[in-house]
Amino acid sequence: MGFFNKCQCICFALILTLGALASQVATCTLQDVAMCEMHEQWMARYGWLYENNQEKEKRFKIFKENVALIESLNDFGNKPYKLGVNQFANLTSEEFKASRNRFKGHECATKTSSFKYQNVTTLPSTMEWRKKGAVTPTKDEGQCGCCWAFSAVAAMEGITKLESGKLISLSKQELVDCDIKGFIQKNHGLTTEANYPYTANHAANIKGYEDMPTNNEKALLMAVANQPVSVAIDAGGSDFQFYLSGIFTGDCVTSLDHGVTAVGYEVTNDGTKYWLVKNLMQRDVDAKEGLCGIAMQASYLTA
Ligand SMILES: *[C@@H]1O[C@H](CO)[C@@H](O)[C@H](O)[C@H]1NC(C)=O
Ligand SMILES: *[C@@H]1O[C@H](CO)[C@@H](O)[C@H](O)[C@H]1NC(C)=O
Repeated sequence: MGFFNKCQCICFALILTLGALASQVATCTLQDVAMCEMHEQWMARYGWLYENNQEKEKRFKIFKENVALIESLNDFGNKPYKLGVNQFANLTSEEFKASRNRFKGHECATKTSSFKYQNVTTLPSTMEWRKKGAVTPTKDEGQCGCCWAFSAVAAMEGITKLESGKLISLSKQELVDCDIKGFIQKNHGLTTEANYPYTANHAANIKGYEDMPTNNEKALLMAVANQPVSVAIDAGGSDFQFYLSGIFTGDCVTSLDHGVTAVGYEVTNDGTKYWLVKNLMQRDVDAKEGLCGIAMQASYLTA
């Protein structure tokens, strides 16, 4: 392609882009100006442009409904947590649920059946594995549907640190690619994020995992006191979709659809106990399954 052709091409693309931008801006109607501006700001904050006006209008409607829902949920009752207009504000609750609903559990790993923390007697009143440097900063799994991999990796980074004293950011891509089978069954371990996929220099050797006794928050506490633990929760509801801050106390059920890592537990000054997962989640609830089923399907990796 000659210089002029290239230039024409670029100019044409520019014109198209500008045109698309202009027509997107033009969709704000008079009565919706404030909401429309809020939507524009939201798009700018998350760096998001819609392909065409039709899609943008559709998403604007959903956004508007979500803003109203968030306001009403925040006003309703006296919840210790707040909801906000976050990166999921463009999704219907069905879409959000569908993006959660790819939880795969740990079906491929080598499983052992003893509970190695069953005789633990010393339980610190709080535990924060992130502060101990046993977990790398949470990376947002977005909507890739591989949250289970992130959860398992965070737990594995934890155990690697505990065993070796080194905190290494392990490659999530490798874990997603090999769907767990490859490395744990062959007892290979993962390469570090920096190495993947160029070397087979495995940084962590994970023997397998142990399932926790089910529906037992006390047992979960004994394990989390000793290492980060992978848990499954029901995170498909609106309160989860728009969670912003505070101690989450529900609304949720127990249809497990999301894998996260319990990286500690704490107590507020007024005695409210909570788990440190992605959200702060109330612990020691009346239900034996724990809040959102957190005690139903927990497991930890063994090195
Ligand atoms: C919703 O917005 C996010 C950015 O926050 C974007 O990544 C995602 O693709 C959008 N989804 C839809 C269906 O528009
Ligand atoms: C816990 O204690 C019991 C009774 O002393 C013992 O049989 C069992 O092996 C211990 N379990 C572990 C994992 O240490």
